[in-house]
Amino acid sequence: MRLKIAVFVSGRGSNLEAIIEAIEAGAVGATIVTVVCNNPDAYAVTLAKAHGLDVFVLSHKGMSREAHEAKILEHLKSRDVEFVVLAGYMRVLTGKFLAAFKDPAGYNRVVNIHPTLLPAFKGANGYEDAFAYGVKVSGITIHLVDEQVDHGPILAQRAFPRLADDTLHSFRERGLAVEHALYPEVLAAIANGGVASLLLRDGHGHIEAVARSEK
Ligand code: GRF
Repeated sequence: MRLKIAVFVSGRGSNLEAIIEAIEAGAVGATIVTVVCNNPDAYAVTLAKAHGLDVFVLSHKGMSREAHEAKILEHLKSRDVEFVVLAGYMRVLTGKFLAAFKDPAGYNRVVNIHPTLLPAFKGANGYEDAFAYGVKVSGITIHLVDEQVDHGPILAQRAFPRLADDTLHSFRERGLAVEHALYPEVLAAIANGGVASLLLRDGHGHIEAVARSEK
């Protein structure tokens, strides 16, 4: 059975494109049953439509967070979505939304990609902040989502260097190439073996990161 995923986007959609291509190449055992976007002008919408995907666009403007999420949840239910994949979605999800995707094992079936090595440089400007700080090594984090921003059990991290002659542009391009490789790899693993295989366990065999995030 292929995993039914919804990809949430707000902007350019380069991660969405990488995921679409990986699925089309047969590398990820998942189907994008819908693409959700809160920004009607996002290029990601054009991209998703060009690939013939179901697209649900709903601006959050003039709506309460709860009302916006409720409409999205209704749509996800109608598409039988099993896992939510955030790919540059610029809205924080509430506990109520996350509860709708709570796995019996205790984690939320919602995954996010962040362009730094968390917990460093949380927030919307990861590349800019890491570059301005002068890091020599940065990286990409893919994590399960909880109620805090850029927080939750880590599923994968991959480092990349900042080179001496890097500009912010070249630094970001190097990172994006890592993003586009890593997200499909993680989604393939989730679709194959579930999330547990990606979480670290403590000395007692408990899934440490989930336990920590539940406190
Ligand atoms: C990526 O850098 C991702 O890590 C961050 O937002 C950006 C989205 O880019 N969360 P794109 O829309 O996938 O091109």
